[in-house]
Amino acid sequence: MLIRTHDNGFDHGIPSEITPRAVYQDRRRLLLQLAAGAAGATLAAWASREAMAQTARPGKLPALQTVRSTVPGAQTMEKLTDYKDASTYNNFYEFGTDKSDPARYAHTLVTSPWTVEVDGLVKKPGKYAIEDLLKLAAQEERIYRLRCVEGWSMVIPWVGYSLSNLVQKVEPLGNAKYVEFFTQADPKTMPGVTSQVLSWPYVEGLRLDEAMHPLTLLSFGMYGEVLPKQNGAPVRLVVPWKYGFKSGKSIVRIRFTEKEPRTAWNRAAPQEYGFYSNVNPDKDHPRWSQATERRIGEDGLFAKKRKTLMFNGYEAQVGQLYAGMDLQKQY
Ligand code: MTE
Repeated sequence: MLIRTHDNGFDHGIPSEITPRAVYQDRRRLLLQLAAGAAGATLAAWASREAMAQTARPGKLPALQTVRSTVPGAQTMEKLTDYKDASTYNNFYEFGTDKSDPARYAHTLVTSPWTVEVDGLVKKPGKYAIEDLLKLAAQEERIYRLRCVEGWSMVIPWVGYSLSNLVQKVEPLGNAKYVEFFTQADPKTMPGVTSQVLSWPYVEGLRLDEAMHPLTLLSFGMYGEVLPKQNGAPVRLVVPWKYGFKSGKSIVRIRFTEKEPRTAWNRAAPQEYGFYSNVNPDKDHPRWSQATERRIGEDGLFAKKRKTLMFNGYEAQVGQLYAGMDLQKQY
């Protein structure tokens, strides 16, 4: 696999495959006009969401060319979280443990050049330059709920494609059962990595069938633009039916294994964070209930908590992956 070493544009430059902003906005305008013409309730709702997405975009980072995803479950009519909230209220312990730390300190992360190594139990291991990874499949816009284990949630328009595209390309061997994700851990550019709060690098994992599920997203952007550094630039995972910590940020290596990977949070507190960590309102965290959640942006004195949905509302799509499992024990 060709690796380019010149500036790839992810460090706030212009990647070659970006859509000029005017074209992107024209696409959104066209959708609005279509919706207005049809005057159907559904389309009108789409239109207001489209309008919201347009105003919510900061327009500071390069835009990514996207198609709307047709993967079942990849769209929702819920109000999008404001971009400002999604990019300033973050967990990214490599930059500190406070929610405001990543937005303040992640500017030091160097995202260009960037490569992702794929190895382990596969027929075709390789190193992918981020530009090549980006072009492996069409970039889709998918609106996912992200439910953090801490009890808050957001609704974010992610950009990316199903991880299964990459999995199929590298051809896992018959004994590959799990996929392990290693993320960047560079003490020179990530000040939090010098702390003992977690063992670094931040590692996450999925069972192979979870990694192959069409909803599992390899994400390069959000709100139509490349990912801000604090959200895991230049490439991260988004697994919408699992607690947010399963969605590793700034991925540098993907390894296929026979054994279940030891993940960062499971190492830190095995009683509290299991390997699966599927969103489950009936399985409390040992120190708090998981039955409800607070939607970021709906704060305020009278804001009601929302009921947390089984598998974060993606039960119809992913429930069969866990048929026959005791989810109280395998959490
Ligand atoms: N990835 C890395 N490398 N380091 C982290 O600390 N935090 C996780 C996850 N991915 C984390 C990470 C947690 S706890 C959550 S809730 C989500 O990222 C938050 O993603 P967001 O900031 O884009 O909302």
